[in-house]
Amino acid sequence: MIIAIDGPAGAGKGTLAARLAAHYGYHYLDTGLLYRAVGHQMAERGLDLDDAAAAGDVARALDPSHLAEGELRGREAGERASRVAVHPPVRSALVEFQRAFALRKPGTVLDGRDIGTAICPDADVKLYVTASPEVRARRRTDELNAKGRDVDYERILAEIRERDERDAGRASAPLRKAEDAVLIDTSALDIDGVFRAAVDIIDAKRGQI
Ligand code: DC
Repeated sequence: MIIAIDGPAGAGKGTLAARLAAHYGYHYLDTGLLYRAVGHQMAERGLDLDDAAAAGDVARALDPSHLAEGELRGREAGERASRVAVHPPVRSALVEFQRAFALRKPGTVLDGRDIGTAICPDADVKLYVTASPEVRARRRTDELNAKGRDVDYERILAEIRERDERDAGRASAPLRKAEDAVLIDTSALDIDGVFRAAVDIIDAKRGQI
């Protein structure tokens, strides 16, 4: 059983994916971390994020099973990830690891931008989790403010729009909903509501296979 979850930044995919994996006892892969690690390593080595060949080299040398998550979580790492993710050599270097992971037993949940369209086009369940840019920016601002970080809603909104444009506008495996993905708009749902909607979709599918 492979569950593919795609959608834009800040729509709640990560929270949902981790919860579904725990619920079903499946393995979870946050594929954004792979791109974050590539961007992070490039920045550490002073490499230009727009250099596709250098980024490809870093991606090929990456050991995806040993990622130091802590330093990869922030906004800057997300921004760098989005920039290196446009390069085809980076994307192709990371395909094999993701596909092998997807086949782990008894099942897997992968979240990202291109899981249902490019990495696992034959996934058993595809969810496209989204929310309006305003709702995502509001949630992110509140989340950061709650952590004591003084961030501005308008600035976060601008960052989210810019990231959406880059992720959906790139030529190589852009963010888009697979035709057979079920859309979950989380704008008017809380985490439990999103989780229940997803479980209903997945259980219906599990009943058929
Ligand atoms: O999901 P995230 O915010 O950690 O992802 C960071 C960036 O990585 C995202 O803006 C684009 C890129 N990414 C991608 O291109 N394909 C994926 N499957 C996952 C992430």
